[in-house]
Parts: sequence; C-alpha cells; structure tokens
Amino acid sequence: MFPHDFAWGAATAAYQVEGGWDADHKGESIWDAFCHREPSGVLGGHSGDVACDSYRLWEQDLRCVRDLGLTHYRLSLSWSRLLPHGTTDHVNQTGLWYYYTPHNNVLRLCSTGVRYYNQVINGLIACNVAPMVTLYHFDLPQALQERGGWQSPHVATLFDAYARFCFQTFGDRVKLWITINEPYVCAKLGHEDAVHAPGIRQPGVAAYLAGHNMLRAHAAAWHSYDAIYRSKQGGLVSMAINSDWAEPLDPESTEDAAATERYLAFTLGWFAWPVFVTGDYPEVMRAAVDRQSERLGRGNSPPRLPRFSKDEPGILGTADFFALNYYTSRKVRPGGGRGGETLLGMKTDLDAEGVVDPSWPVCGVPWLAVAPYGLRKLLKYIKATFNHPAVYVTENGFAQMGPVLMDDIQRCGYYQDTIVEVAKAIEEDGVNVRGYFAWSLLDNFEWSDGYSVRFGLFHVDFSAGERTRTMYRSGREYAQIISKHRSRA
Ligand code: NOJ
Repeated sequence: MFPHDFAWGAATAAYQVEGGWDADHKGESIWDAFCHREPSGVLGGHSGDVACDSYRLWEQDLRCVRDLGLTHYRLSLSWSRLLPHGTTDHVNQTGLWYYYTPHNNVLRLCSTGVRYYNQVINGLIACNVAPMVTLYHFDLPQALQERGGWQSPHVATLFDAYARFCFQTFGDRVKLWITINEPYVCAKLGHEDAVHAPGIRQPGVAAYLAGHNMLRAHAAAWHSYDAIYRSKQGGLVSMAINSDWAEPLDPESTEDAAATERYLAFTLGWFAWPVFVTGDYPEVMRAAVDRQSERLGRGNSPPRLPRFSKDEPGILGTADFFALNYYTSRKVRPGGGRGGETLLGMKTDLDAEGVVDPSWPVCGVPWLAVAPYGLRKLLKYIKATFNHPAVYVTENGFAQMGPVLMDDIQRCGYYQDTIVEVAKAIEEDGVNVRGYFAWSLLDNFEWSDGYSVRFGLFHVDFSAGERTRTMYRSGREYAQIISKHRSRA
C-alpha cells in the first residue's frame, strides 16, 4: 500500500522539451553549443532548438499532466533562460512583463524567463499538482563554460547565487527542489567520454574535478536554503543521483564481490557517500583511484580525486531526502579497463565491468536491460547504507527505438513491474519511499541519441510544427495505476 500522500509524478528537463533556445534573449547553454557545432556529436545532427516546443506549448503539457492524474510534476529550469550569462548581475530583463499575484494583490515586474516558469508553476498549482523543480539538468550557461565550467573552483559560488535567485523567486510555491540532476552523468559523459556537452575528453582527471565542484555547488545551495529560505518556505532540497543496481556476477566469487563494491562506490557512492555518510568520497573509490595513480607513476602529483577543503561549508548532511534515478541493473566482475597498467581513465581506476544477465530483456535502448527487481534491491541498500532516508524515485522509465508503437506493451509491463517492486520495498522492506516519477511525460530530445529514442508517456510528433502530443497506452495504464492507488490510500 502506498502512503496517502505518495507523490505520483512524471518528469522532464528544460533542454529536452522547451525549445525556444534563443527566444526572448535567452542565453546560450552548453547543449546549444554542443548541438550547433560541426560536426555535431548528436545522432542525426538533431538539437533541442525546438524540441517539444514546451516554451510555447506549456499549456498542452499541463493538459498531459492533468490527463495522467499526476500529483507531482518534475521540471527543470534553464539557467541561461533566467540568467543569460549565468550570473545574477544580468537577469534576463529584455522584454519585461508584469504579472499579478492574487494572494497578496501585488503587481510585479519580471523577466521573460521568470514569467515563463511562473506560468508553468502557477498552472500546475492551479490544477493541484505540486512542482518538483530541478535547478540544473545538464545545461550550463555557455558563458560559464568559457570561464572553466564545472572544472572552475568558482562555479560553486555562481551556482549558489543562481540557486538563491530561484529560491527567492519561486520558493513561495515550490517545496521540492533538486539542485543538480545526475552529477555522475554530467561529470563522466561530459568530461571523460565527450559524448555529452561540453564534450571534454580528459580521462581520469576532468570528471573527478567536475563532480567535485558539483558537490561543492550543491552543498552551497543547500546551506543557503537552510539558512535563508527554509524557515519561511518550508521546502526540501536534494540532489538526484543515478545508479544501476549491481551485484556480483558469480555470487561465490570474492573478486566479483569486491568489483561490485567498487562499481557501486563509483556511481551511487561518488555523490551519496559525501552527502549522507562522511562528507568525503567512499574509501574504496579513493583507494582505487590512488592505486592506479601509483601504478602510472603519478603518486606524487595532487590526488586526481580532489579533497574537500575544511574551510568550506561541509558536504555532509546536505540533503533533506534521497533522490534516486533508477533504470537498470548489472552483474559485475573485475576488468573492463583495457591496458589497465598504462591507461589513465575512470574505467581503469574502477577495474570492474557490469554485464547484463541473459534473462533480462533488452528491447529499447541497448543500455536499458529490464530488471525491475533491481530497484527494490537498490532501495533496500539505500535504506541500510544511508541511514534510512526518505526516498523519492525521481526518474524511472523505458525507451522505444525504431517504429513508433502507440500500443507500447513492453513499457506498460516495465512500469507495472517496477511499481510493484516499489510497493514491496515499502511494505516488506520498510523503505520510506515518498514518491515515484516516470521518465518522461513526453517523448523528447534524448541527448546524444537525439529524437531516435523515445521515453514519453505521450508521443510527440516531431515531424510537424504543432508537436502534437498523443497518449501512449503506457500513459493510460500509468493513469489507471495512479487512480487505483489514490482511491485506496
Ligand atoms: C536520465 C536523465 O536525467 C534524463 O535526462 C534522460 O533523458 C534519461 N536518463 C534517459 O536516458
């Protein structure tokens, strides 16, 4: 049984749905730059220039939210739509709008970026849907990238200023905040593998530094909220951490068990351990990185996995709940980093590889093996490892590739089975799961896969200007699941 106030949600992110990439003096983001460069790193040369056109068609999105009967909707704010240069000394002032706040009878002046998000947030609240707002979902202002991006030590202060601006502007209505979405993905895919913006490939160095500054930025924003806004606004702030569930390939093998521990330390632990357990990285992770540095003869250089300064506000305790993005699972064994003795990179540091169990169907994107039971295992692991936090599953979903199937029965099965596992985690394992968000409300721009991969509960017709939204069968079934559980609660 789900608690009566369980959050039933769906999620999107600004760059993946909004379009309007340069509308009303929005600044450029790193994803605008990444998609526009030649040759493009995105399949088919696709971009989020128009995407689902939610910047214009946000009322249609609200309709979709209502049709599903959601209690919550998770969206992200575009930093460069609100602050075109990334800094608060230049708010997007061009094209100012007045808006009226009926609750205190005030006419306020605001920028187009603020106006846009006010419309969406107020629209949600008017239909009794609570917004969960992500401050950063992969789209750094390009102006800040030019100043070093996530590798610059100053980015934490700039992010904190942006976060305060958002708390101040929207926090009277937004009570659930995510600072940064999937720091693992931003750091690794953007700074190690070069397949996400900003397209940097500096294996074994840049991702650790970027991840480190994301943790510092997150902590600074959490501390600001705690000190300045919490007493008045009463909201909660966390960071959305992605992780597979992982278990040893051979349950009898101690090597596989150790590799699994490293695998979880380098994904979930990288960000959750500092925030929930010690204020620093997992020992297993640091030892693995240092061991490889020694092997490469870099023992005397500064540690590649940076150390937190004692002079800054701490990282420990900077989350009011655990926000988890879960999609799939892996069986783990040692290895995976070819030429491990000589190569610098996260793969060789990790020295573990995850494989798909042959019994798990892989029918959408190649990385997404269907293993719903892994979510229950991961939730139980989070309860035991991170001191029984309240948990929101902030993303979970299944993709289609190839021909559009409106009767998407595989996705229906994926959602049904995964939600059953969440129920078991609550009822049988006593995990304090507070909500579940399907990824995604809409088919949208799936990063380097462009529009070839579709995660929506609503199909979006990208071939036509109207960007028509049509509910998939999975949308209908998710709506039924929600309505069934809400009427029982
Ligand atoms: C997680 C990311 O947060 C989201 O942006 C992405 O589209 C989904 N995973 C699916 O890959």
